[in-house]
Amino acid sequence: MSAPRPPEALDRYASAVHTEMQQTLAGFDSPLHTMGRYHLGWLAADGSPVEGDGGKGLRSTLCLLACEAVGGEHRAALPAAAALELLHNFSLVHDDIQDGSPERRHRPAVWALWGSPQAINVGDSLFAFARLALLRLRERGVAPGLALDLAELLDRTCLRLCEGQYLDLTFQDRHDITIDDYLEMIDGKTAALIATACAMGAAIGSKQPGPREAFHSIGHNLGLAFQIRDDVLGIWGVSETTGKPVAEDIFSKKKSYPVVHAFNHAPQPLQKELTLIYAQTELLDKDAQRVLDIFAETGAQRAAEQAARGYCDVALDKLHGLGLHNGATDQLAQLARFAIEREY
Ligand code: IPE
Ligand code: IPE
Ligand code: MG
Ligand code: MG
Repeated sequence: MSAPRPPEALDRYASAVHTEMQQTLAGFDSPLHTMGRYHLGWLAADGSPVEGDGGKGLRSTLCLLACEAVGGEHRAALPAAAALELLHNFSLVHDDIQDGSPERRHRPAVWALWGSPQAINVGDSLFAFARLALLRLRERGVAPGLALDLAELLDRTCLRLCEGQYLDLTFQDRHDITIDDYLEMIDGKTAALIATACAMGAAIGSKQPGPREAFHSIGHNLGLAFQIRDDVLGIWGVSETTGKPVAEDIFSKKKSYPVVHAFNHAPQPLQKELTLIYAQTELLDKDAQRVLDIFAETGAQRAAEQAARGYCDVALDKLHGLGLHNGATDQLAQLARFAIEREY
């Protein structure tokens, strides 16, 4: 089966979001920000301009589509869209340090080029830029009260993200993780920001509280589905497509969905074997191969794909339940399906 084409919505707002982010960083010319612009795909490591991979732009696109879906004008939400991408990118720079991941988006991770101490600075500065980006809502006619409310939401979301990242790391050395523990962890590290992306768009597009809550819930389910797909790609993804090393999540002993499924559902002897493999300090190629064999025997990939589809279906049901039916909701539905079918 060939890889699904990315939905055109991901292209639609890319240049407007890019401009909004560039304006947020304008005038900040320390070499620190050259590293930040490198991570964002705007510059090469030597500071020369490139047309690099700055990511799919999922969170910004969800925000802008949610805004349009409820009858708003997407331009008003561009500062929020830029803030979401910048916060996401802050989390990726730190995540690569935390996960020891040498590659991101087909290029060396920031820490792999400049070391972890400077990568922490790069991440911190992207975090601050995210907050500055959001305050630009005031220049787009968004009421100051709403801008402040969304600034609080962004910070609270960032706390959820950090809590999720904390759990993700603590789970690496544990073998007793349940699916519920796992869901709590990915709700924090991934779904919280995706839920906020949808909720912010709806809040800017409509003064009614109903759409904001509904979109938060849609984003939450979409975020869970998105991370479970990410887990599948972290094991079975093709390196040339994902831009990350192959089977990286096995070697780092991540308690991703397929692993948690196998630990909880494999026959006892296989659970014991998995525990012994994961108790080692370092996994060798032969260990990773054996883990893959156990996944194949226990249907771990299929179980993960079914779970992702289930959350995607909930998101789609909630979206259709809003009864909005416009071009933006159609594109949101396409994005939801892309979240679970994507190869990168
Ligand atoms: C990667 O997110 C981190 C996760 C939450 C899974 P994306 O897959 O959206 O990353 P980019 O921005 O497109 O590279
Ligand atoms: C995703 O973590 C969540 C955040 C970056 C906050 P992962 O570790 O699963 O994401 P990738 O696989 O490195 O993109
Ligand atoms: Mg990672
Ligand atoms: Mg991680």
